[in-house]
Amino acid sequence: MSIIVAPSMLSANFGSLDKDVEMVNQSEAGWFHLDIMDGVFVPNISYGFPVVKAIAKNAKKPLDAHLMIVEPDKYISQFKDLGVEWLSVHYEACTHLHRTIQSIHNLGMKAGVALNPHTSITLLEDVLCDLDYICLMSVNPGFGGQSYIQNSTDKVKRLKDMILRRGSNCLIEVDGGVTTKNAKMLEEAGADVLVAGSAVFGAADPVEAVRLIKG
Ligand code: DX5
Ligand code: ZN
Repeated sequence: MSIIVAPSMLSANFGSLDKDVEMVNQSEAGWFHLDIMDGVFVPNISYGFPVVKAIAKNAKKPLDAHLMIVEPDKYISQFKDLGVEWLSVHYEACTHLHRTIQSIHNLGMKAGVALNPHTSITLLEDVLCDLDYICLMSVNPGFGGQSYIQNSTDKVKRLKDMILRRGSNCLIEVDGGVTTKNAKMLEEAGADVLVAGSAVFGAADPVEAVRLIKG
């Protein structure tokens, strides 16, 4: 399977959002990545339902919402109603993670769990077969434009190994500091989905940047 590139709309120009949505539609990107931050789980507030709705209106590719919020269970059905197909919650924000994963599946969405850089992949062993994807954070969540944490490559390899050993179909998404320079290395390590914000929207030619990340 070739790599899926998921541009993070956090780095889009919100003054001309439709234009950036159309750019992603026209590019080789596979998904739209939507970063939802509440100012509690992470030290930043991004955007909420009205912006997701505006993106969903013109998006021609699946929406992947990454919830960096506390108590995500309260909002799962609203993301479904807005057309989100892939929904990830943070391990660190869920006391009853298995129940949360079930709630996402019961609404017909693909379920993912995101891990902060310090959180061990072994904590997901007992839900691995219930997951459609795992989002490995390769920066501390909260902001776009940060530098890639080098240890993440080894984490991707270890997770790939764990997935193969368990015979799971879970995808590995890498989020944070992905660039045209480290994309190939991440694909070789076992990544299936690469999220890229600043490397796409900060490029002179964003469509070309997506193409280069896709490799
Ligand atoms: C960080 C977000 C990322 C971020 C990626 O908290 O989850 O999706 O937007 O941005 P870049 O690619 O610029 O690191
Ligand atoms: Zn994200």
